[in-house]
Amino acid sequence: MFRILVLHYSQSGQLDKIARSVLAPLEAQNEVEVFWQNLQPEQAYPFPWPFWQFFDTFPECVYLDPSPIKPLTIDTDKEFDLIIIAYQVWFLSPSLPIVAFLQSADAKKLLANKPVVTLIGCRNMWLSAQDKMRAMLTGLGAHLVDNVVLQDQGPPWATFITTPRWVLTGKKNGFWGIFPPAGISEHEIISAKRFGRALTLALPLIQSGHLGPFLTGLGAVKVNPGYIAGERLVHRSFKMWGRLLRSMGLAGSPGRRAVLVFYVIFLVTLILTVLPLGIVFRALIRPFMRSKLGEQVRQLEAPSGSSTERLGTI
Ligand SMILES: Cc1cc2nc3c(=O)[nH]c(=O)nc-3n(C[C@H](O)[C@H](O)[C@H](O)COP(=O)(O)O)c2cc1C
Repeated sequence: MFRILVLHYSQSGQLDKIARSVLAPLEAQNEVEVFWQNLQPEQAYPFPWPFWQFFDTFPECVYLDPSPIKPLTIDTDKEFDLIIIAYQVWFLSPSLPIVAFLQSADAKKLLANKPVVTLIGCRNMWLSAQDKMRAMLTGLGAHLVDNVVLQDQGPPWATFITTPRWVLTGKKNGFWGIFPPAGISEHEIISAKRFGRALTLALPLIQSGHLGPFLTGLGAVKVNPGYIAGERLVHRSFKMWGRLLRSMGLAGSPGRRAVLVFYVIFLVTLILTVLPLGIVFRALIRPFMRSKLGEQVRQLEAPSGSSTERLGTI
C-alpha cells in the first residue's frame, strides 16, 4: 500500500476542493490509501472576516505566531509515503492553522525525511509564504519535492478588489461587467487533476526514494518577475509595522487598534501608488537585469517550474 497524508485547512472550502481535485486520480488507485487530516483551530477564524479583525491578524501571520489547533485525528504513528500540504496564504505567510501544525511535535514526527508536495490556493502573492514554508520544512527534515500554485482568476488589479471583497463580505460574484467572480476559477480547479495523474505515474519513483520533482512540464507555478520586488517591499513593511503593533499588545487591544488605523491607510496608499509605479519602473529597467531576474524566477519557481511541455500528454 502507498499511503498519502493530506494536511488541509480551508475557510470557504476552496482549498479543500483543490486538494480533492488533485487527489482524485490517486484515490482511484487500488494500491493507494489517502488519509485526510483537516487542521482545525481551537477557536475558529471567522469567514467572512470582520474588517478590523482581518487586519489585526497580520502581525501574528507575518511573525508565524499562531493560536493552537485541535489535536490531530489521524494515527500519528503511521508511516506515510507522501505528504501533501494544501495551504492558503495569509498576509504573505502560510495561514496560521498550517503554521500551528508545522510548529507542533506531530509535524516533526510525521514529516521528518518524508517527501512533501505543497499545494497553494491564494490571490496571487505567495512568494514570501513559500520561502517561509521551505524554511519550516527544512527545519523539520522534510523534502519539498513539488509545489503547485493556483491563483485567483482575473488580472491583479481586479483581484485586488474581488479577493478582499470576498473574504470581508462573503460575496463571490462578478460585478459591473469588469470584475470576475472572486477566487480560483472552476476550470483551474478541475484541471488540477493533472497533478494527481502525474503523481500517480510517479508512485514507483516516490516509493524508491526519488526526491522529485514529479510535476515539471505541467505549468505548476508561474512567477511574474515584475511582482517580486513589490512583494518583498510589502513584506518588509509588514515586518516593521507588525513589530510595532505586537509591542502595543495582543490582537484586539485598544492601543493596537489605534495604530492599526494608521497602518491600513498607509498600506492602501502604498499598494495604490508605490507598487504600480515600481512595476512600471522595473519593466523599464528589466532589459538590463534580465539574467539576475531570470535566476530569481527560476529559484522561486523551484522545484516544479513553470514549463508546460507535458500539458495535454497526461
Ligand atoms: C487573512 C487573509 C489574508 C490573506 N492574505 C493573502 C496574501 O497575502 N496573498 C494572497 O495571495 N492571498 C491572500 N489571501 C487569500 C487567501 O490566500 C485565500 O485565497 C482565500 O482566503 C480563500 O481560501 P480558503 O480556501 O481558506 O477559503 C488572504 C486571505 C485571508 C483570509
